[in-house]
Amino acid sequence: MKHVGGLIAASAAAALLGAGACSGGTSGTSGTGGAGGAVAPLTTEELMDPQACSTCHPDHFKEWSGSMHAYAGEDPVFLAMNARGQRETKGALGDFCVKCHAPMALSTGATKDGLNLADVPAKLRGVTCFFCHSVDAVKGTHDNPLTLAGDGVMRGGISDPVKTGAHQAAYSSLMDRTTADSSSLCGSCHDIVAPLGAHLERTYAEWQGTLFSHADTRLSCSQCHMDGRSGLAAQAPGVKLRKVHGHGFPGVDVALTDFPEQATQTAAIQGSLDTTLQAALCVKGADSPGATIQVVLDNVGAGHLWPSGVAHDRRAWVEVQAFAAGKVIYQSGVVADGESITKSPDPDLWLMRECLFDKQDKQVAMFWEAASSETAQLPGPTTNVPTDPDYYLTHVFRTFPRPTSTPAALATPPDRITMRVRIVPVGLDVLDDLVASGDLKAAVKAKMPVFTLAGTTLEWTAAAATIKYPEQGIPVSCVSAGLTTGANTASPAPENTKCSP
Ligand code: HEC
Ligand code: HEC
Ligand code: HEC
Ligand code: HEC
Ligand code: HEC
Repeated sequence: MKHVGGLIAASAAAALLGAGACSGGTSGTSGTGGAGGAVAPLTTEELMDPQACSTCHPDHFKEWSGSMHAYAGEDPVFLAMNARGQRETKGALGDFCVKCHAPMALSTGATKDGLNLADVPAKLRGVTCFFCHSVDAVKGTHDNPLTLAGDGVMRGGISDPVKTGAHQAAYSSLMDRTTADSSSLCGSCHDIVAPLGAHLERTYAEWQGTLFSHADTRLSCSQCHMDGRSGLAAQAPGVKLRKVHGHGFPGVDVALTDFPEQATQTAAIQGSLDTTLQAALCVKGADSPGATIQVVLDNVGAGHLWPSGVAHDRRAWVEVQAFAAGKVIYQSGVVADGESITKSPDPDLWLMRECLFDKQDKQVAMFWEAASSETAQLPGPTTNVPTDPDYYLTHVFRTFPRPTSTPAALATPPDRITMRVRIVPVGLDVLDDLVASGDLKAAVKAKMPVFTLAGTTLEWTAAAATIKYPEQGIPVSCVSAGLTTGANTASPAPENTKCSP
């Protein structure tokens, strides 16, 4: 089935829980003492502290504590960028960054600009339980326009919560992943209009442009990003087995300092990246000099462009190597781990990133300087109807070497070609820049991982090719993972024309 990544498959197992299957043994095992009706109500102070939830919601707490939501206010890259932004704008950035990265620290007055986050109590840093579970209205589409009820009621997707003395609980459609409203809650933080006007990190706008935002084919942010499973929503008397939802929110970013759940996060990220893209690797005219390589990529898993979010800081690229008799005869995108992909000139490099520009259209690195942007992210699906002409718009391709390169073809016929797509969550060149400005410790760089997407790791040989067709009378042969067609059904990949890597 097209456009169904691993993330979705797990959530498709919805609503299987019969009440009868789970009565008895599952309740009354609180053990932590005092949970239930007799429990003292948490004060507002306590409600704001994720630790206070951990006695009754240990799984939610554990998962969240390793998430980027928990890390958002301690992330050294964030702290470095915010510090530099405040300095370079002479404070004009104000609360712009913290309003999403540490909204409770801001709303309680513990910080104004994020420069003192290290001294702010840990419970107020990051995107906390209290923040998400108190939202009562979404008053815009970007830059965190969320308002909090402040009534002590913890809102969730459960319409019949078991009574607890700890807090009041209520259903909210904003928290229910089966609603479109729920995407507006996530989306309005996952979408930025920068102070100078550039529309960046447009994950929400991107999602709205895909079929997943349509009523009949809807998949909300949480349906893909919060795996549903059967379990207990709370360790407290009287609770029953329900569908509960993952709070680890794996994406691409990882903690770069000691932080809980690191191995779990990394494995979850790898797992979802592995099924996000499918690829085909084709050779045109393999038997003669003048052969060219065509790489096809299809974003089948993400409910938005790929990569998404901070696409201006991500570095995602295609690595291609061609061999003849064991010797490398051509390569693009080959770089040792720990080295920046943008460092050495590679005219053929397929880099899927966004570039930023100031008002004079000069390329800039940091988003407080950005008035506009240009992107080469992979498109998201707009239809799942194979007969719709737009069906193949997510199949995009590039030719290696590029037609504009010299030479524009391989001099020797290749007998083996390999490819893979790799991504570094925040580019090493971005980190170098922050180290050079004195805002980031150089040691952080060594912790930045590079992920390789399994769905794109392919090896072509003439014997392994399964897809064959002629193009302008020249034979094309392809190997693929998942795809059944080659560059013949694909559109040229989006390109950055205004920026250099
Ligand atoms: C003394 C135990 C206890 C503590 C402490 C506790 N909760 Fe709960 N919570 C419960 C119980 C019981 C339920 C109902 C579970 C059910 O019906 O399956 C619940 C339900 C919820 C729900 C779901 C509401 C809905 O209707 O969907 C949310 C959200 C929630 N709690 C958040 C929190 C947060 C955040 C904290 C920490 C500030 C917290 N809880 C602390 C016991 C507790
Ligand atoms: C980024 C926002 C966000 C944060 C942060 C967050 N949650 Fe949730 N939580 C949700 C959403 C959304 C749901 C409901 C999903 C649904 O029902 O469709 C949920 C559901 C729940 C539920 C109900 C059971 C379930 O799994 O559906 C509990 C309990 C809960 N969260 C507790 C917590 C606790 C405790 C924390 C902090 C340790 C926390 N949440 C942090 C968004 C968040
Ligand atoms: C208050 C604003 C806010 C809200 C609301 C919010 N997020 Fe986030 N989210 C963030 C920030 C900030 C980060 C990045 C933190 C970092 O890496 O420093 C993040 C990170 C993530 C990541 C990990 C990204 C990566 O590259 O690793 C995912 C996935 C995610 N959020 C999904 C969601 C979903 C789904 C919801 C709704 C249930 C949601 N978010 C609600 C602010 C928010
Ligand atoms: C159809 C499933 C699907 C939907 C719907 C979806 N996502 Fe994603 N998302 C993915 C996949 C797959 C990835 C890529 C794998 C990964 O990063 O873990 C991803 C990646 C991300 C990332 C990591 C950033 C990056 O560079 O790719 C963020 C943040 C994110 N999604 C947020 C959201 C938000 C917010 C929404 C709703 C507006 C949303 N997603 C809707 C599947 C989905
Ligand atoms: C509208 C909410 C919002 C605002 C405002 C915002 N961010 Fe973020 N930021 C996010 C979200 C959401 C993510 C995660 C997106 C993703 O993973 O692709 C993120 C991710 C990041 C990351 C990359 C992941 C990491 O932590 O290494 C950095 C760095 C960052 N933000 C810095 C900043 C700085 C500096 C500012 C202010 C100039 C800022 N952000 C303003 C929501 C916001």
